[in-house]
Amino acid sequence: MAGAYNITKHFRTGEETNPVRCFEETMELAIEKNADLIAMTGDIFSFPSEAAIEWVHEKLNNCGIPYMYIAGNHDWHYEGMDGSREELLDIWTKRRLTTLYQGNDPLMASYEINGIKILAIDNSTYEILPEQLEFFRENSKEEDPFILMMHIPLYAAGRPTDYGCGHPSWGAESDRSYELERRERWPEEGHTGVTMDFYDEVFSCDNLLGIFAGHIHRQTIDIVKGKPQFVADANTTGAFLEINFLPLDIKGV
Ligand SMILES: [Fe+2]
Repeated sequence: MAGAYNITKHFRTGEETNPVRCFEETMELAIEKNADLIAMTGDIFSFPSEAAIEWVHEKLNNCGIPYMYIAGNHDWHYEGMDGSREELLDIWTKRRLTTLYQGNDPLMASYEINGIKILAIDNSTYEILPEQLEFFRENSKEEDPFILMMHIPLYAAGRPTDYGCGHPSWGAESDRSYELERRERWPEEGHTGVTMDFYDEVFSCDNLLGIFAGHIHRQTIDIVKGKPQFVADANTTGAFLEINFLPLDIKGV
């Protein structure tokens, strides 16, 4: 798995490329477009080395654009290493990924960019912790609109079990990759009640404008209970989403 993306095909040209070149290309484009934020929703690394993390950190710090990062399941995964998903996430976010959070809590953080509130919640274990559910409740209380960024998209009807967080059939039975990825198998009992409560509350939250995620390496859009969920294709191929927020009501037009 660690070497699976060393050589990739560019999403536009189909020509041979690699994740380093693709990351640099995307950063250059963000600078050229004068982006207000670079948002990374995880799986930036595979078998993450200190050198790779330092390289990304340096690139981000030198570009002069604010950035936010939440971990993906591959960012803290060392194939064959013992430990539960929660333990490994906790160890490696603190030990290795820490600089990318810029002092924010790795599991949950709130950002404000040009008046737009963004909640970043780490669901890279496929689960939501009670404190993350509480964080979501607290931050969605106010009437101001906000968006949610996570690594793993939320389940949408018709999508397979490995697509999203909150699929009713997610669990040991539907986990076909644990041997290949050399990791803990998904639990027999499926998602926790907290994760399912989070799922329900996200899609019934009036002031949530939409969700942005990654993980599945395909660009998709789902509408769940009227809320859009956008998934970006993998940046290992140079892909990205350019997101523009426009006011619904432009005064004087
Ligand atoms: Fe992932």
